[in-house]
Formats: sequence, C-alpha cells, structure tokens
Amino acid sequence: MSEAKKHKIGILTSGGDAPGMNAAIRAVVRTALANNFEAVGVISGFEGLINGDFRPLSARDVGGILQRGGTFLQTSRSKRFEESNGQREAIRKMNEEGLDSLIVIGGEGSLKGAYALSQKGIKVIGIPGSIDNDVWGTNISIGTDTAMNTIMDSVDKLRDTASSHHRAFLVETMGRNSGYLAVMAGIVCGAEKVLIPEVPATIQEVADAVADAYERGKTHAIIINAEGSNITTTDLAQGIDAMDVGFKTRMTILGHIQRGGGPTAYDRLLASRMGVKAVEALLEGTHGVMTGIRGSGVKYIPLADVAANKRTVNMEYYSMAKVLSR
Ligand code: F6P
Repeated sequence: MSEAKKHKIGILTSGGDAPGMNAAIRAVVRTALANNFEAVGVISGFEGLINGDFRPLSARDVGGILQRGGTFLQTSRSKRFEESNGQREAIRKMNEEGLDSLIVIGGEGSLKGAYALSQKGIKVIGIPGSIDNDVWGTNISIGTDTAMNTIMDSVDKLRDTASSHHRAFLVETMGRNSGYLAVMAGIVCGAEKVLIPEVPATIQEVADAVADAYERGKTHAIIINAEGSNITTTDLAQGIDAMDVGFKTRMTILGHIQRGGGPTAYDRLLASRMGVKAVEALLEGTHGVMTGIRGSGVKYIPLADVAANKRTVNMEYYSMAKVLSR
C-alpha cells in the first residue's frame, strides 16, 4: 500500500526583513515536522513563489538560525505579485510543487498579498513581521522590539556626546507612514520632541522645544523625527541651525541599522509562539488568518480584517512622550 501524501507547507518571508523572522521559520518548520507535515522554504518571498524557487527544509536546515537577524530564506518586495497575473503564476508553481498551504511572514503589504492568495482558494496563514509595528490586528509584530532596542542604544550613545558638547541631536527613525517607533523611542529615550507622520509639525515648533530645553538648563536636546513626518531631517537640521536656540545641532539618520542584528529574547519568544500557532491553525483546519497578539495570547485574526484596516499610533503614548520631556 502506498503511503498517504503528507501535507506540505510552504513558508516565505516577504517585504522588509525583521529580526526574529528566522526564529519564526524555525518554529514553523519544527512544528510542521513534529506533526508529520513536510516543510518547504520559498526563496525570496513572493518573487520566489512566482519563479518556483523552492527548497525542502529539515529540522537541521533551521538549526543555528534562532539568534540570527535577517531572513535566511531571503526576501523581496515583489511588484509582479501585486498583479493578478503574478498571483496566478504563483498558484501554478505552488500546485506543481504540491504545496497544500502557505505561511507568509511579513508586514502590512505582504499580509495583503497573503489575503489575495487566500481569496483565490489557497490555505494561507500570515505571521506579522515588521519593525514598523504597523500591522492591524496584533499588539506587536516580530522585529519591533529588537528595532526599539537598537534605537534606544543608539540614542543613549548620541545623548552622551550631545551632553558633552551642549548639542541638540536630531535622530531619524524608520517606520514608513507610522509614527510607532518614533513615539516609543521618544518615551524610552527621553526625547524633548517627537515628530510623527500622524501629527504635522513646523520647524518653528521644534526650534521652540529646543530653545525651551536650553532655557530650562538641560545639557542637550534629543529630537526624534519619524522618516514619514512632514519635515525631512535635513530641512529640520538646517532650519534649527539657522535660528538661535542655544544649542548647536547635529543630525543622525539611523536607517537600516534598525533592521539588523540578532533578535531580542522578546522577539525570539514572540516569533516562536507565532510560528507554532500558525502550524496549529493548519492542523485544526483553520486558514485565511494571521497570528496576532491580543491581550497576552496569540489569537487568529482574519486576514480580511488585517487587509481592510489601518493600524494607527496610540496617541496616549504621544501625549506621554510630551509630558515626560519636561
Ligand atoms: O517596512 C520596514 C522598513 O524598514 C520601513 O521602516 C522603511 O520605510 C522601509 O522598510 C525601507 O525599505 P527598503 O529597505 O526597501 O529601503
């Protein structure tokens, strides 16, 4: 008698990489194998799905990656997959490979892609992975905590030199259209002012905050500017430098440093929990959902809701950053 075909799970990472993606891949693969499923890695996200770039994954293949940043499966921002032709080609390649389901680890755009596939009848589970923490339906995404810690370490270092020289430092954080990283950085780094895409600001306002910090006897000022705010960091630096605010200014754009590095303990745990839960969903016959943190548990959130809603920054934290800057 021939052996029954094992359920074959495909797994891919898509969009901007985030620390902890490897931990999630490892958790998916090992949970799948423990349940007598097969696991297949898709190389370079949705581009690899369209190209049929697959690689079977064993428990050993995912050894030694838990602590590594980036994604060993590689990633892409696939323009082709945004078109229905690309999605059709991807489904064809999945069928040729005999994939029964797909786990997609990525941010907002990638989870929209996951939803598009599920609408076309593919059994898909999403796992939120993005430093931006802009995915609706989960309190936190994989990679955000590590990025926050990187920002915190960097600003702590900048504060040392800012204090020594009586300077105001303008620090640009990532986050695309979301002010999450900037607001949280404002609190944990004790910034004098935070600029976010959600709240337009003026150069004068920022200059006033810096001058105020100087007059109150501070030895430095830290301004966090989210990359998506309405003023570029360069314009801000030039504008403030041209005014008499007490401090001289310097600027630092943290850039992709924020995406790299080994994941924190929090991100390793989060990624492991979500990876396990994603496979459990398939075992239960659940699909078309994302693993999301609600309260303290990992819950299934419909991909339809994730794709339809926008996560907004919590303004209570924005106000808190302002009060604590006194
Ligand atoms: O989504 C993660 C992110 O790092 C954003 O914060 C940033 O806007 C974008 O990706 C940068 O993308 P890329 O690496 O393609 O330049």
